Amino acid sequence: MSSAPRAEKICCLGAGYVGGPTMCVIAKNCPDCKVTVADLFADKIAQWQDPDHLPIFEPGLSDLVRATLGKNLFFTTDLESAIREADIIFVAVGTPTKTVGIGSGHAANLCFLESAARLIARVATTPKIIVEKSTVPVRNAETLMRIFTTNPDSARLFQVVNNPEFLAEGTAVNDLLHPDRVLIGGQTTPAGHEAVRRLADVYAHWVPRERIITTNLWSSECSKLVANAFLAQRISSINSISELCEATGADVDEVARAIGMDSRIGAKFLKSSVGFGGSCFQKDILNLVYLSQSLGLTEVADYWEQVITINQHQKARFTERIVHSMFHTITGKKIAVLGFAFKKDTGDTRETPALDVVYKMLDEGANLAIYDPKVPDELMWEDLRHGPSLSPPARPMPLEERISHVTDVYQAVEGAHAIVVCTEWDEFKTLDYERIFGSMVKPAFIFDGRNILDHQRLFQIGFEVHSLGRRPLTHFPQTL
Ligand SMILES: NC(=O)c1ccc[n+]([C@@H]2O[C@H](COP(=O)([O-])OP(=O)(O)OC[C@H]3O[C@@H](n4cnc5c(N)ncnc54)[C@H](O)[C@@H]3O)[C@@H](O)[C@H]2O)c1
Repeated sequence: MSSAPRAEKICCLGAGYVGGPTMCVIAKNCPDCKVTVADLFADKIAQWQDPDHLPIFEPGLSDLVRATLGKNLFFTTDLESAIREADIIFVAVGTPTKTVGIGSGHAANLCFLESAARLIARVATTPKIIVEKSTVPVRNAETLMRIFTTNPDSARLFQVVNNPEFLAEGTAVNDLLHPDRVLIGGQTTPAGHEAVRRLADVYAHWVPRERIITTNLWSSECSKLVANAFLAQRISSINSISELCEATGADVDEVARAIGMDSRIGAKFLKSSVGFGGSCFQKDILNLVYLSQSLGLTEVADYWEQVITINQHQKARFTERIVHSMFHTITGKKIAVLGFAFKKDTGDTRETPALDVVYKMLDEGANLAIYDPKVPDELMWEDLRHGPSLSPPARPMPLEERISHVTDVYQAVEGAHAIVVCTEWDEFKTLDYERIFGSMVKPAFIFDGRNILDHQRLFQIGFEVHSLGRRPLTHFPQTL
């Protein structure tokens, strides 16, 4: 018999890009629930307690924290108390691609997830619903259940459900407030159904019931990997066509518009760019590839691997074009890099295509001035010192002598030979390009890696304009 929704006590292990915003939205919409977010890192937890200096930037997030902090939303490093107190425990820890050992470069590193599960198994004394929020390989819930059943006394305490997160960084708050769907996978047992129902009741505080869909555990785990694979595949598909357009004189934006009006194809995710980034797309496809290979599904693995191959190719060929267009050398030339985050409206730089572009330009001997409105200075330098994850380690170089991280975009372009747009920040569309042109070395090049600028206008000002998926706009006749 179903009863009135309970005032659940909720905890989340992991105060990152997913755990933090998701719990803020739950706290805001479920004032009867107590929500506690726990993380191992004291600095991060301290930052979450200051709405003006949150550890991540997301439009609308500060207001949400301000509205709920200390009322029904709490942040703590006391994981054990948070676990003991909770009825529902979300696990939203990282599952990055392994960088060493078996499956290195493809498989997900599940050590954070396992240690969170072991902690729960050790300290919990009352029944808990464990929510796999992290993105995981299909059948991962089986591992969690095994960990929870190692102690037969406590095994009956736990129900594992999978509830993948589909938010996109940069629009996380809006995505969480108005999700296309909420997916919950559970065991096909009476206790499993009950666990799914209780989690669905939490979401039903603000999500229409018809948007809350339930499946078995494996379908839910699988759907998350597949959703990201399909999204990334669209980007690689249009990016592959951008190269064809450049070679033939077609215009990729015109092609995207023409095919996107077909309702079977749809218009979204058809914007050509320097390539996708972020912590998820590449990682989740690699995870899918690894899983397929492990199951002996070679053709399936090869098919999805190609999405990554095209993405790497797009980043590489964009940078090669910069070098070739600038008279085959950028050695000693100043180049302004506009944008370092992997997309606009976030300060996140994980797998940012900007890093690949920057590294290749450094290899060619360029001097770089990088401007991004949201990426913190320390984060940018940390990324630059480590390099892109799938590339071999860069040879040592005095980075500080070759790169400056500036806070004024006009300072970045002063005396530059070229501007390279790596992130689609809206503010780049409305810069004073006459002023910028006047301050640059001539010919002044623009390489628009996001196809966001008004190319005709820039050309009229005097720039050499290079974009993706169409022929360059040059004031000199092309001989090739
Ligand atoms: N970032 C996204 O846009 C996004 C979207 C959907 C799904 N996901 C998935 O969600 C998961 C989390 O991603 P994220 O971007 O939030 O990662 P993140 O790195 O921003 O946050 C993970 C947090 O977990 C903490 N942590 C690690 N081990 C812990 C433990 N045992 N107990 C408590 N905290 C612990 C870390 O300190 C970190 O703060 C990943 O599996 C990711 O694939 C991410």
